[in-house]
Amino acid sequence: MRFLIVALLALVQLAAGTQPLRCLMYLTGQHVVIPDYALTRHITHVALAFMNSGVFNEEPPQEWSLFTTIPSIRPKFHPGTKFLVAIGGWGDTAGFDVAAESEDSRVRWARNVAQMVEDMEADGVDVDWEYPGGNGEDYKKVPNSEKAWQITAYPLLLQALRRELGPHKLITAALPGLERDMLAFTPATIPQIVSQLDFVNVMTYDLFNRRDNVTKHHTGIALSRASINAYISRGAPADKLNLGFPFYVKWALTEPCPDPENPVGCPTLLMEDPETGADLGRAGGFSFHDEVPSDLAPSYNRALAQGKYDRVGGGHYYWDEGENRWWTFDTPEAIRVKFPVLVEGMGLGGVFAWGLGEDAPEFAHLEAVDGAMEKLRGKENAKRDAARQSTKEL
Ligand SMILES: *[C@@H]1O[C@H](CO)[C@@H](O)[C@H](O)[C@H]1NC(C)=O
Repeated sequence: MRFLIVALLALVQLAAGTQPLRCLMYLTGQHVVIPDYALTRHITHVALAFMNSGVFNEEPPQEWSLFTTIPSIRPKFHPGTKFLVAIGGWGDTAGFDVAAESEDSRVRWARNVAQMVEDMEADGVDVDWEYPGGNGEDYKKVPNSEKAWQITAYPLLLQALRRELGPHKLITAALPGLERDMLAFTPATIPQIVSQLDFVNVMTYDLFNRRDNVTKHHTGIALSRASINAYISRGAPADKLNLGFPFYVKWALTEPCPDPENPVGCPTLLMEDPETGADLGRAGGFSFHDEVPSDLAPSYNRALAQGKYDRVGGGHYYWDEGENRWWTFDTPEAIRVKFPVLVEGMGLGGVFAWGLGEDAPEFAHLEAVDGAMEKLRGKENAKRDAARQSTKEL
């Protein structure tokens, strides 16, 4: 009997139609390229990146400065697409530090953000504080202990933002992919955080970065799953989470790998200055839209031609034995594999990519996302129709 009721409820929910699968694209000031209209059919949200977090602390605030306007790009996307202004980004923490400090500063910041949303004709904002509680770009200069207060202040900042923006504007956030950076995302705070947000963009990329000392897949399946599971186990509903795709490659210099046949876990050179946290130039990346730096081109071409897919960790990789150089990136095929395994398999609410123009001019990775969205949406619709049919019969 109980089983029947549970099954019936599930059917009714399905028939009523949960939110359709989301697909958000960041559009960045570095690569302002929008694909042909047909290829934007499954894009549900566009987040313009970035507006500086500090401008909302000023009274009265300055002019809003962004690389484009929402009314000018709206027609390039399908009707119903929502446009967000992304605030912050890597290295932009100073404005958030000031904003979060007190109830007065939180309200001032939130009010100014709400004014900006109105002025820009946006549908909402994406909050990209990397990261509350520490481990940001300045983590060697400002110790995390000095940012511990932000762990309780971050949910309060989002609360203030929700009050000022109201229930109909969208508030989303980009959250760290690595558990070591989830300082402000605990079982106590996650429920407070997600209750203010429409959805979360989990940055399931850069999971291998210059703070590591062995090679990893920077957007691999196993690491992405661990990242998503960390949020779920702390109280985030899976359908509020978006899986992140990077439209860029990463490389790093390594020691000679002990096992050239299996270079995952191979020691890297020291990639970050342990004192200052500065980049030592032994790791890097570039988008699919960038011109490949000439000193990297031969090795990158080998990575494209001879790269392999690791079925254990779930990632495309290549170790260039001649240069002791590790490459890690998603091919279109690697993207396709993630949909059944991670998006469908974990019941996620959608996906996002950093960023749209980074995949120009070929848009091969966007095409992989588009094709997988088409497939998954088809399945969702079929399930919904079947559920409608059964509830009718009941
Ligand atoms: C490598 O990094 C891990 C943490 O990610 C650390 O525990 C370990 O000591 C580091 N090893 C070396 C040789 O620095």
